[in-house]
Amino acid sequence: MRIPFIAGNWKMYKTTAEAKAFAEEFKKLYSGTDVKTAICAPFTQLQALVEAFKGTGIGVGAQNMHFEEQGAFTGEISAAMLSEIGVDYCIIGHSERRQYFAETDETVNKKLKKAFEAGIIPIMCVGETLEQRDAKKAFEVVGTQLNRGLEGIAPQQAQTLVIAYEPVWAIGTGRTATPEQANEMCAFIRKTLEELYSEDAADAVIIQYGGSVKPANATDIMNMDEIDGALVGGASLKPQDFMAIIDF
Ligand code: PGA
Repeated sequence: MRIPFIAGNWKMYKTTAEAKAFAEEFKKLYSGTDVKTAICAPFTQLQALVEAFKGTGIGVGAQNMHFEEQGAFTGEISAAMLSEIGVDYCIIGHSERRQYFAETDETVNKKLKKAFEAGIIPIMCVGETLEQRDAKKAFEVVGTQLNRGLEGIAPQQAQTLVIAYEPVWAIGTGRTATPEQANEMCAFIRKTLEELYSEDAADAVIIQYGGSVKPANATDIMNMDEIDGALVGGASLKPQDFMAIIDF
């Protein structure tokens, strides 16, 4: 039985003061739900959120990390630095990182390995562009991202993964994949995991959909068989909206 997991991705929004105000408000709203949740925040807000969410069951995630343990990598943050302050998750390979910061399936692969070593649960993002979907290449693209990204990752690790299917054309555009389109790709991702690992491992992996998820469409998305959760950008910035998604 997979427990639904809905994570917020704040991207480059909110100061520490704003993050603390969000946490206080959100803690009042979040109680007694069967859905797991986490907020993936900018680096400088992580410690404050870990403090604020202590004992609540609400997780905290980063949005990126480096694939080396330490070294002369100006401006970078390692997985061990994240786990030291109590961070639970890290988004890896978000399409904005692939698009603007030259991340590749290879760097995603290296980051996944380091995250696992440090005890951080990766939220690995995959997804096709509109051009690729129109050219009927969506499944091929996502299949390649999975195959290359997961190379050399052991089954015991893979089964603790969270995978977020985020079609690039649906991120921040207000244009969502239909629940059926999202479900079809999430089923394909699970089948690919089964081929790479085993049925048991594939069954254990949480597969989220991300891309313009909001209170109004969360129920339809979350009710699909193969979709176990959501990665929510814009709508995770307001406690009421994010809670309405968790309460789908
Ligand atoms: P969005 O972003 O919900 O604002 O479309 C999702 C994401 O990029 O993770």
